[in-house]
Amino acid sequence: MDKLAIMGGSPIRENYLSYGKQTIDQDDIQAVVAVLRGDYLTTGPFVKEFEDRIASYVGAKYAVAVSNGTAALHMACFAAGIQEGDEVIVSPMTFAASANAVLYCGGTPVFVDIDPKTYNIDVNKIEEKITDKTKAIIPVDFSGQSVDMDEMRKIADKHNLIIIEDAAHALGSEYKGKKVGSKADMVEFSFHPVKPITTAEGGVVTTNSEDFYKKMLRFRTHGITRDKDILNEIHGPWYYEQHELGYNYRLTDVQSALGVSQLTKIEDFICKRREIVKYYNKEFNKVEEVITPFEAEFSNSGWHIYVIKLKLELLNATRKEIFEALQAENIGVNVHYLPVYLHPYYKKLGYSKGICPNSEELYDKMITLPLFPSMTKKDMDDVVKAVKKVISYYRK
Ligand SMILES: Cc1ncc(COP(=O)(O)O)c(C=O)c1O
Repeated sequence: MDKLAIMGGSPIRENYLSYGKQTIDQDDIQAVVAVLRGDYLTTGPFVKEFEDRIASYVGAKYAVAVSNGTAALHMACFAAGIQEGDEVIVSPMTFAASANAVLYCGGTPVFVDIDPKTYNIDVNKIEEKITDKTKAIIPVDFSGQSVDMDEMRKIADKHNLIIIEDAAHALGSEYKGKKVGSKADMVEFSFHPVKPITTAEGGVVTTNSEDFYKKMLRFRTHGITRDKDILNEIHGPWYYEQHELGYNYRLTDVQSALGVSQLTKIEDFICKRREIVKYYNKEFNKVEEVITPFEAEFSNSGWHIYVIKLKLELLNATRKEIFEALQAENIGVNVHYLPVYLHPYYKKLGYSKGICPNSEELYDKMITLPLFPSMTKKDMDDVVKAVKKVISYYRK
């Protein structure tokens, strides 16, 4: 058996393979340079163009682009009217942005545990957490797999709740044959570099509601409006008014041009991600100690991340030891995520260990493996070889 790199053996790879990475080509660079040579750097024609293309791609009526996915969630929570005293159902198995957005508005995040198979919020556990104060649900499409939106909608309608879907991982993913992005009241996507497409930083909310759309437009630019129908007074053509406390959350024209260019390639990116996942699944399903991602029948994921779960009971190692051994083989592993309520900030707010046992169990056993469209066959093989090498060393 080959000696593990962490014990002084040779690593599977010479150079480090990161877990995720943007794919930028000459078209993208030209699109950005053209804007830099033009008249608009901040809000110009590409912002609306990007919004229109995103809306049309996901099949929604409106899109509002902002400076990042977290700002997009904040904007959606604002438009939903979340304020002090309101409770919002959220998933713990995610980045802190969705629960943080509730806090920004003065609301209280209520964590509902995940389904142990899909790692998405467990739809069957939501109703027991609904109270008179519950105003909205923010489900996360973990790793790109959509939540069961029809089931979610039944609960939301029954209790008069707004659904803000955190689809940061899921641009290009499908639910029941349709692109994610039009079924929830508002749907947020992120364009961070590791996401399905990138604008460096960037985010968007899609919606079919004109009311939410207008509220979001104002929110992303200080709460300012020039809409003659709602101005209190009109002093002249220059005139605008601030009606709410909004933010400067605008996306630039430079970034929007990159987004427009990236969006033309999304289907290729996703096709490549699906091929890699198919290969990983085929190889890792042969490894008894590894649980590969489960995909529900209604989903066709775009696979933002590839997360394996270790059967630690079959291994003489902790997740930390396996993680460090893979890193030493030069495989860029990661962990998505520490359950949000276990962050010290949330603990200070009063949340404590034990509230979502499935999420905590998953956190102890999960590892994210490299997945991005420009991976070569050798990269994929290196990941498979490294996982098999490390697992067989620690096999009981
Ligand atoms: C599920 C989820 N929601 C929201 C965000 C926030 O997106 P951004 O980094 O663009 O602010 C992220 C980012 O990693 C995420 O993974």
